[in-house]
Amino acid sequence: MDAAWAALNARIEACQICALVRNITHKVPGQGNPKARLLLIGEAPGAEEDAQSLAFVGPAGQLLTRMLQAINLSREEVFIANTLKCRPPGNRVPLPEETAACLPFLREQTRLIRPGVILLLGATALKTVLGEDKRITRCRGQWVESKGVHILPTFHPSALLRDPGKKRPVWEDLQSLKARLDSLGEG
Ligand code: URA
Repeated sequence: MDAAWAALNARIEACQICALVRNITHKVPGQGNPKARLLLIGEAPGAEEDAQSLAFVGPAGQLLTRMLQAINLSREEVFIANTLKCRPPGNRVPLPEETAACLPFLREQTRLIRPGVILLLGATALKTVLGEDKRITRCRGQWVESKGVHILPTFHPSALLRDPGKKRPVWEDLQSLKARLDSLGEG
């Protein structure tokens, strides 16, 4: 790990800015390829993630692994992060002040990775990255380009587990993601 990543992870580890830190077992900075072409952004750690200090290792994470495999990607070649690095109690939706407090970490991760493509998983990631006024049902599947980065919102894997009716649109989004990655090529 290079010095910039080490410094960032140390800042995440030391952070006490919001009250979430009082109820967690571990911080969950996110993990994967620090030079990934694709950055995935979820919501916040759940119980399993909090226990293991790894993003997306519970039931939603297992589904995410299969979603990636469906388009020939492994978890190791992408970077998987969350808008929050601490688990909210009972997995409640993050509060705006919590996402605001944690956003500098996600921004720094994005700056270090320099991904060509970002996949936003669910409403919290969408609102955090593209704006509070955005609605996932309206925005999913719609590409946005910002500062040369191609950004695609889709439903969160947990939403898919609750509602199998979302499988088809997510499948379409994954195909669109694969096509965009292919068209952008390596690097
Ligand atoms: N849901 C998320 O948004 N992130 C995780 O890491 C796990 C579940």
